[in-house]
Amino acid sequence: MGLYTRQLIASFAALSVLAVSPASLFAAVPAPVEGKNGMVVTAQHLATDVGVEVLKAGGNAVDAAVAVAYTLAVTYPTAGNIGGGGFMTLRMADGRTDFLDFREKAPLAATKTMYLDDKGEIVPRASLDGYLAVGTPGTVKGLELAREKYGSKDRATLMAPAIALARDGFTLTQGDASILAGGAKRLAKDPEAAKIFLKSDGTPYGEGEVLKQPDLARVLGEISAKGPDAFYKGFAADSIVKASEAGKGILTKADFEQYKVREFKPVECDYRGYHIISSPPPSSGGVIICEILNILEAYPLASQGYGAASTVSQMAEAMRYAYVDRNAALGDPDFVKNPLPKMLDKAYAAEIRQKIDPGKAGKSADLKPFGGKESTETTHFSILDGKGNAVSVTYTLNGSFGAGVVAPGTGILLNNEMDDFTSKPGVPNLYGLVQGEANAIAPQKTPLSSMSPTIITRDGKPFMVIGSPGGSRIITITLEAILNVVDFGMDISMAVNAPRIHHQWQPDKIFYEPYALSPDTIKLLQSMGYTLDGGNDGPVWGQAAGILVGGKSLAEIDKAGAKATGMFGAIDARAVAGSAKGY
Ligand code: GLY
Repeated sequence: MGLYTRQLIASFAALSVLAVSPASLFAAVPAPVEGKNGMVVTAQHLATDVGVEVLKAGGNAVDAAVAVAYTLAVTYPTAGNIGGGGFMTLRMADGRTDFLDFREKAPLAATKTMYLDDKGEIVPRASLDGYLAVGTPGTVKGLELAREKYGSKDRATLMAPAIALARDGFTLTQGDASILAGGAKRLAKDPEAAKIFLKSDGTPYGEGEVLKQPDLARVLGEISAKGPDAFYKGFAADSIVKASEAGKGILTKADFEQYKVREFKPVECDYRGYHIISSPPPSSGGVIICEILNILEAYPLASQGYGAASTVSQMAEAMRYAYVDRNAALGDPDFVKNPLPKMLDKAYAAEIRQKIDPGKAGKSADLKPFGGKESTETTHFSILDGKGNAVSVTYTLNGSFGAGVVAPGTGILLNNEMDDFTSKPGVPNLYGLVQGEANAIAPQKTPLSSMSPTIITRDGKPFMVIGSPGGSRIITITLEAILNVVDFGMDISMAVNAPRIHHQWQPDKIFYEPYALSPDTIKLLQSMGYTLDGGNDGPVWGQAAGILVGGKSLAEIDKAGAKATGMFGAIDARAVAGSAKGY
């Protein structure tokens, strides 16, 4: 270690001692919400209310999750859906864990080069707008499998609130209205979407106005009465296929008929005595969270402090190495062999640490894989019931309002998940991810995801339920909420609200949210060779939704010891329409 490096480390140590404590930095965040018998945290307040009512009526966390997901499809159309897909991580009170993959699949007629022109160049926005961008949706079958296998209530009971909200409408809050306004320009391009989400004068519905979705209510009613076949073999599938054919898409009835939900064993790893249960491929989320945690475990993050240059540098290096693995090696497990044993091995993390030069920025261009632009879309919700059943769900249409199209008469916004595939190796997607062959397009293949619905246990009991939207940043947002609780001692509200940093190998820079880094820290990081991208004018990052069990923070839980009770929830203040509610 050179003199300069030693001086830098000494200055980090000094800065850490002087660092302002997280408590004073984030004292202004709302206090976590307390519940004794259950907790629901979602990005839309009406969906949260529905989830709590299901728990109060004796439903378990899975029942509540099914009801919440259908409600979000009505009240949070930017990401809530039945025309998209997602993941559910479960840990039941008896210790069983499961991971349901109801993410979209590429249509049977999809090809590796479907988004390239004659010259082999990407056709701009072909994988983002309109029917060619749509993958076969999985949400309806996923929710039904969850309910049948783990729930306790009938389908009609769980879907009734969503159907009523679609049929009778709901009054938009300022947050709800601002989300609709954000999509107005895009929704105006599709006559059917415009008919639903815009007024007759073409302007979006505003605060205090009522949004009704009668077509969606009818489709939800059919699903409620007849089950998923009403979607996959009935009017919805027929109408979507017809509209897709008219709109240069490639979806067929066979795509809908052959769609299957998959169940996988979650990815699991241990970090400083906490057991992480998260998403396996076709998500990269859990694997990359674990790889980063394994690398960081040897660093004294707690004493260095949140936001210290040393901490940020170590996090950025761990992220750099993990994302190069993500982008090069991972894909749908039915199509590629994912090197999980290696990526999850603590010895591999130690090998990576050997390559990290303390106090010096690595270079992404030098990393050889062994194997952007940002959006806040997608949505995550966390639920815990009084028995200790924990459910963590992230589901999505991909971009905001998905492909921006609704098949006539269905009321269903369709996803643009096909953009999560590698359209062309080496060319960034919506999230700026530069990916490889493992994630190339193939018929019935699921695109690699970053969604990271996560449950954490300690001593065999639920400790934390966490996840976030945020495109490629989902992984680091979820990771940082965990570090904020475990290493930096924040309460669950501070943990989801604290400003974040992000590195994803390419582009080779540390992205940071407003106030994440002080001017002094930025200077230190620049002197180490980092390029930084952030400041006070960037977009809002993903909205985490978290629950902590037994106390507001780790200190409170540890102080209470065996007497620790209750559950504490927090929705990120970045979620303008969200809420956490316990009972
Ligand atoms: N569509 C975002 C993700 O799945 O990661």
